[in-house]
Amino acid sequence: MNILFATAEVSPIAKTGGLGDVCGSLPKALAQLGHDVTIFMPYYRQAQEWFASNDIEPEEVLPATYVSWANWAVEARYLRTTLPGTEIPLILVGNDYYFHRPHIYSARFDGYDDGIERFTFFCRAVIRGCELLGIAPDVVHAHDWHTALLPVYLHSGLRGSDQFRNARSVYTIHNLNYQGIGGSNRFAGLGLHSRYWAPDAVEHYGDVNLMKGGIILADQVTTVSPTYAREIQSGEHGAGLDGILRSLSFKLHGILNGIDVDEWDPATDPHIRSNFDKGHLAGKRLCKRALLRELNLKHKARTPLVGFVSRLVDQKGIDLLIAALPHMLAAGAQAVILGSGEPRYENALQQIAARHPESCRVIIGFDSALAHSIYSSADMLLMPSIYEPCGLNQMYALRYGTVPVVRLTGGLADTVIPFDGTNLDAANGFGFFSANAADFYTATWLAMLNYRESKSWRRLQANGMAADFSWERSARQYEAVYDRARYS
Ligand code: ADP
Ligand code: GLC
Repeated sequence: MNILFATAEVSPIAKTGGLGDVCGSLPKALAQLGHDVTIFMPYYRQAQEWFASNDIEPEEVLPATYVSWANWAVEARYLRTTLPGTEIPLILVGNDYYFHRPHIYSARFDGYDDGIERFTFFCRAVIRGCELLGIAPDVVHAHDWHTALLPVYLHSGLRGSDQFRNARSVYTIHNLNYQGIGGSNRFAGLGLHSRYWAPDAVEHYGDVNLMKGGIILADQVTTVSPTYAREIQSGEHGAGLDGILRSLSFKLHGILNGIDVDEWDPATDPHIRSNFDKGHLAGKRLCKRALLRELNLKHKARTPLVGFVSRLVDQKGIDLLIAALPHMLAAGAQAVILGSGEPRYENALQQIAARHPESCRVIIGFDSALAHSIYSSADMLLMPSIYEPCGLNQMYALRYGTVPVVRLTGGLADTVIPFDGTNLDAANGFGFFSANAADFYTATWLAMLNYRESKSWRRLQANGMAADFSWERSARQYEAVYDRARYS
């Protein structure tokens, strides 16, 4: 079938988190199942830089074109290339006013948050691009709030056009807490009939809510783990949309993300100091020594190195980390933390590092090579997330023999089997349930105790490294959802 992916991020071209990883790897698995996938993404400044630094020149495929909707007529450029390392077509939608900014999600130059306008333009440009390039998808697969308008536009009459006559929509929620919300005055800019200003479309308690529209009007809805699919139907994790999700649960599916097992393979990873695999962990020890040296930390026998790689936002349990980390260091751990995000979190973590120069390093920034190096070198990876739709970091850690210590929520509960003292045949990590720093510390402390028991520790590592997180199984589940969208 012809599948159109529309997304705000594609790894390795432009990413801020797991959305990019998924949209850069799931299309490969779908192509391997025999489907024709075309990906659309914005031609950000960051994407231009990525292509330039990789000596790739995307080809301009159309003369600059006006995309019009509501009262707008905005110029779009369309450039074609392929998803790196594949034959999968990737169409870049260019408009420097919207996309040439310091960060992927930067506000306008004057500080005004025009995110809804930018991604409305992107969705309209995807539609126009399909018309002009003769792309007739069977399934339009939209992701997160940025492209939630695509299922809405499909519902609102687009199916009358030749290109979209057979198109059905699938909408994936990667994170329910970012919904694309704006004041009611934004509605006019969406170019929708007034019938869509209603609680069963994009209106939510007087505001525009794009994700709500996507959920209600898509033919099928998925989210990125089975546990998160259940959690978002509850008041605690439903972010105000739990009632809607409960009433639409007949078309909501939790499909666990996979990972790109070629990019994330300790046996071949070019970013790490020494390659290794399940049967030969000596390379992992060399990675750890090298990273400690780079960070100017002393290598000490029987001292665990705990790692943390993440956006620094409250979702990720940074408050718990800040409270528990000094105790972990006092108990003898070394720590390396890589992240960027809210300044209050960046500052608090840097202060901890300043107080513990002998055992803790905090690197503020986004650095993919260093992330690979941390997964390969650390003994444990910390993920005390308050909520976690899927989480990819724990899967990368498991594959690199790094034992995760996680809060058992969302996809973390679906991928980490906590060690309880009796299940060494299956366990691959440590877990805790309630979102408090004491429980997080206790779980890490237990991990540290077990780290000293080298036999059981090796078993935990081996169980993690043996897990299969490749995309194939999940890609087949997406295929089944696409079929449901088309035939039900
Ligand atoms: P989320 O999408 O919520 O941020 P995921 O665990 O799904 O969480 O994915 C995070 C992705 O972003 C992983 O590929 C991780 O390695 C990467 N990442 C997060 N923060 C950084 C950082 N500071 N530097 C490099 N990579 C990062
Ligand atoms: C979101 C979630 C994360 C998930 C990723 C990819 O960013 O926060 O848990 O792994 O999307 O689906």
